[in-house]
Amino acid sequence: MSVKKLISALPKVELHLHIEGSLEPDLLMELADKHQINLPYSNLEQINLAYNFEDLQSFLDLYYLGASVLIDEDDFYQLMWRYLCKCKEDNVVHTEIMFDPQTHTERGIDFSVFMSGFLRALNQAEAEWGQSHHLIMSFLRHLSEESAFDTLAAANPYLEHIHAVGLDSSELGNPPGKFTRVFESAGKLGLKRVAHAGEEGPPEYIWSAINDLNVDRIDHGVRCVEDPALVDHLITHNMPLTVCPLSNIKLCVFDNMQQHNILEMLNQELLVTVNADDPSYFGGYLNDNYAAMHEALEMDEKELIKLIKNSFKASFLSQETKQHWIQQVDNISNSILYESTD
Ligand code: HPA
Ligand code: ZN
Repeated sequence: MSVKKLISALPKVELHLHIEGSLEPDLLMELADKHQINLPYSNLEQINLAYNFEDLQSFLDLYYLGASVLIDEDDFYQLMWRYLCKCKEDNVVHTEIMFDPQTHTERGIDFSVFMSGFLRALNQAEAEWGQSHHLIMSFLRHLSEESAFDTLAAANPYLEHIHAVGLDSSELGNPPGKFTRVFESAGKLGLKRVAHAGEEGPPEYIWSAINDLNVDRIDHGVRCVEDPALVDHLITHNMPLTVCPLSNIKLCVFDNMQQHNILEMLNQELLVTVNADDPSYFGGYLNDNYAAMHEALEMDEKELIKLIKNSFKASFLSQETKQHWIQQVDNISNSILYESTD
């Protein structure tokens, strides 16, 4: 009982969340209607049937299709606003949000359109309840190095609002090394670096993200366990892994939640964190991910608190802010565990 209480009561951080993957079916249908876009589904039942994925690519096909309803500034505002309201509800005090410019620029939608919508929502949430955030601009790895460079150039007027660059989309066949020079340029601009690696791709892709892209965090990384030397390296260098349990089940990385290796990785002292990835496609937001782990893996209070503290440690917050929140986690969990009689 106290695990469930702690999941909602503790302040938390989210480090791996694609804003386009938080497009809920109701907003999807509302915007399709607004812009007269034909989708292959017209009600919730059909959407639920369609969101049955066999791998990353089968999901990405619907993710890009869904994003095609995002056209004007207010669409991007609505998308971001609804996610931020969910952060408030889930007690996610700080979130590092990925967005995919090329998903929109490839359709002729300019940076000024989506950035204004995103920033309007972010500023409003910060003013209304102090929501803290960083933005991570992710490059689509199935597109060319040249397209990534064009994206970095187009982002130039918005760099003060962008904290890091990332790498997402179809992993197999698109190793991190394809973007070495882009990440080097981003680093020179003062941006932090993260990359999806070892979700479907082999441990070599994680090595490449570390050695070629100089990343500060690995997104997913669950396949690191296949290479003991890599596990040692990740532990020694305190390299964070932003693991997404519900995502991994929906995309068949593991057969079911009981098979997930996150707690084993945690107990090996890897710096693992829990995240939602694409919550509207994968069946849950951050607290739902923790709850699913509690139910299937019998995650206990100690493991939950360690995971939550790991997320603060692995974030791009200042040391001082991290310390403040970690102290809050200790204070609140002590009061709940001390008061708890069940
Ligand atoms: N993996 C890779 N690319 C993505 C994902 C993901 O889970 N979500 C959105 N783009
Ligand atoms: Zn992801």
